[in-house]
Amino acid sequence: MRIVSGIQPTGNLHLGNYLGAIRNWVAMQDQVSAGGGQCLYFLADLHAISMPHVPAQLSANTREMVAALVACGIDPDRSILFNQSQVPQHAELQWLLNGTARMGWLNRMTQWKDKAGKNREGQSVALFTYPVLQAADVLLYQATHVPVGEDQKQHLELARDIAQKFNNDFCTEDAPLFTLPEPYIPPEAARIMSLRDGTAKMSKSDPSDMSRINMTDDADAIMQKVKKAKTDPEPLPSEAAGLEGRAEARNLIAIYAVMAGTTVDAVLADFGGQGFGAFKPRLGELLAETLAPINERFVALREDNAALDAILRAGSEKARALAVPTLNATYAALGLVR
Ligand code: TYM
Repeated sequence: MRIVSGIQPTGNLHLGNYLGAIRNWVAMQDQVSAGGGQCLYFLADLHAISMPHVPAQLSANTREMVAALVACGIDPDRSILFNQSQVPQHAELQWLLNGTARMGWLNRMTQWKDKAGKNREGQSVALFTYPVLQAADVLLYQATHVPVGEDQKQHLELARDIAQKFNNDFCTEDAPLFTLPEPYIPPEAARIMSLRDGTAKMSKSDPSDMSRINMTDDADAIMQKVKKAKTDPEPLPSEAAGLEGRAEARNLIAIYAVMAGTTVDAVLADFGGQGFGAFKPRLGELLAETLAPINERFVALREDNAALDAILRAGSEKARALAVPTLNATYAALGLVR
């Protein structure tokens, strides 16, 4: 098994990232490394420059994100933790795959449509070709599984399409070059929603900090954000079917269920008939209890930039060694003389 996944270092790690992806990164690290497989987790700093950014902020965010991932349980001795830009093979493979990816495929990407809006002409070329780099990220390592939230599903499907077309066009049937990666999307936490609007996903780019729980929030901030979270006036139902049409309630119950390691039905069996006044403090406490040790480790780790840089350097070296054979085979398959 080869697990590969990435996150953009564009600000705070939030509960959506944690429940949708990072928790599974940690769980897979524990299972996979014990069974002889490998996990590669990286900061997608090359993806981060597809949108306007402040250079000094990107460096600071990159280091903060390493500290946050280690605080969440990613162990650099068992997983390969690195930043994409220190492994130039990602960008090289992207160029080679640009020959296989089709304009029409990229034009259909919902993230491109959402981020570009009406101003397509004014976007960076990088924002348009972003999904080809993401395909290179996973195909470079022959990833078998990619743990992500629901919003990355379409990008993973594109990676599979690119791999399949490349294998068809340039390889013999019995010796395909690229492994087709399987997305791994957690059922209950596939899409954690904003605390202010149950129809928008929790996101780093939401201007309101009250819309998300940051992994670095302290207990007071968490209690306050949960208390202020948007809800409706009805009491909680006793069964999941009763959450139909109640996006905010559904989101809070799902968060509780995933954090407590139980199901939505089990949470409703406990809280059904009660109002949010009773439920919210319990949810706040559960979040604060789970996140407090992560926050403590984060605060200690972020102090030492040299140690964080050393983690990325060592991880990048290991990643480069794994990347080279596939990259060389890709050059050869395309007939490029080396
Ligand atoms: P990014 O940085 O936006 O998010 C990192 C991970 O967090 C998940 N996620 C969520 N899950 C549930 N609910 C939410 N509200 C929520 N918000 C974010 C994302 O699905 C993701 O798994 N393009 C990617 C980074 C990337 C990548 C890759 C991922 C680059 N190369 C290769 C996998 C494989 C991104 O911007 O994720």
